[in-house]
Amino acid sequence: MQQTLASKRILLGISGGIAAYKSADLVRRLKERGADVRVILTDAAQQFITPLTLQAVSGNPVSHSLLDPAAEAAMGHIELAKWADFILIAPASADVIARLAHGLANDLLTTCVLASAAPMAVAPAMNQQMYKNIATQKNIATLKEHNFHIFGPGSGAQACGDVGAGRMLEPLELTALTEQLFAPVKKLQGLRFTITAGPTREAIDPVRYISNHSSGKMGFALAEAAVKAGAQVTLISGPVQLATPAGVARIEVLSAEQMLEAALAAAVNSDVFIGCAAVADYRVAEIATDKLKKGNDNELQLKLIKNPDIIASVAALTQQRPFTVGFAAETRNVLDYARQKLLNKRLDMICANDVSGSQIGFNSEQNAVSVIWRGGELDLPVQPKQQLAEQLIALISQHYKT
Ligand code: CTP
Repeated sequence: MQQTLASKRILLGISGGIAAYKSADLVRRLKERGADVRVILTDAAQQFITPLTLQAVSGNPVSHSLLDPAAEAAMGHIELAKWADFILIAPASADVIARLAHGLANDLLTTCVLASAAPMAVAPAMNQQMYKNIATQKNIATLKEHNFHIFGPGSGAQACGDVGAGRMLEPLELTALTEQLFAPVKKLQGLRFTITAGPTREAIDPVRYISNHSSGKMGFALAEAAVKAGAQVTLISGPVQLATPAGVARIEVLSAEQMLEAALAAAVNSDVFIGCAAVADYRVAEIATDKLKKGNDNELQLKLIKNPDIIASVAALTQQRPFTVGFAAETRNVLDYARQKLLNKRLDMICANDVSGSQIGFNSEQNAVSVIWRGGELDLPVQPKQQLAEQLIALISQHYKT
């Protein structure tokens, strides 16, 4: 077994839910990979699994009470919070998610969470209706804002007989997601990346065009992160005001058709293709050769025709097809639309991007994405685009040709 979590100190919080019976297996899986695991049980969790079981599998004393003088003397709650490199709460009940979202510190687990600066994740586990409930959804959204990773939930048949989303992910899936958070960027030496970035510009006449608000920052950040990890990077960029990152070969284009031509030429010599550009979906059917003059009419009709889908064309290559990663910029039904795009465009991975607000996405310094691939999903919380790019490149390097 590869020691992917060697010497990582993981604090596992277990809250009350039937899925708690899987927590002993989760502890074993984490330990197999080299992690040192300590467990905190909530009061409700003890109805489902005993401290003794968890002490036996973790090899460490199990904590459950904030007011236990003996436990506090051994390793106090602040010490425990500082000890952790990572806090995973699995299963995370609707109740514990609500308490965490509101910053409560009314038991040992929530107190440790508040007192820790470590990265954290929750693995929701509850009845599908409780999961769908607007209050739970709002609490999960709050946790995402507070930089929690949300692992799952999975969907399917539930212990109560219902069917739907709300099942805790399996211990092996939770372990894999934890490994991903700690995974060092695989050396990308020798790998060739092609990345598209920025908007395209579709001419109307010699002085006017149709375009969008894409700044190109995310694509440029990805190019920089890939180069830093050792890759050879070609960046095909629409018109943006950004300096070329050191070591990156930049090809400048204006229109979607130019971007397609450059992308196909580069893609066949690439191992990974990332379509980060905000390609204009339509272009003007006939570009006027001279500047259009204002007529007497109050209306002007432009006929638009559909642009080629660049990333779908790359993903459709039958020979020398690179591992193809897309973005989905959405303002609603973000995950559903992204999953559809993953399938329709035959991508290997897609980064779902909520561009409804101004805090993240288009033209801002920060971004957050939900990454979806055929075997799983991972939420990367709001953070500077550069940092997010490094995590995305690490994730791509893990899934590339696996
Ligand atoms: N894309 C592309 N060529 C296009 C349109 C989009 O390569 N003509 C790529 C983008 O770079 C991105 C992905 O497809 O990786 C999804 O882009 P998005 O704008 O979210 O979706 P569209 O396919 O344009 O669909 P819609 O505008 O209807 O949401």
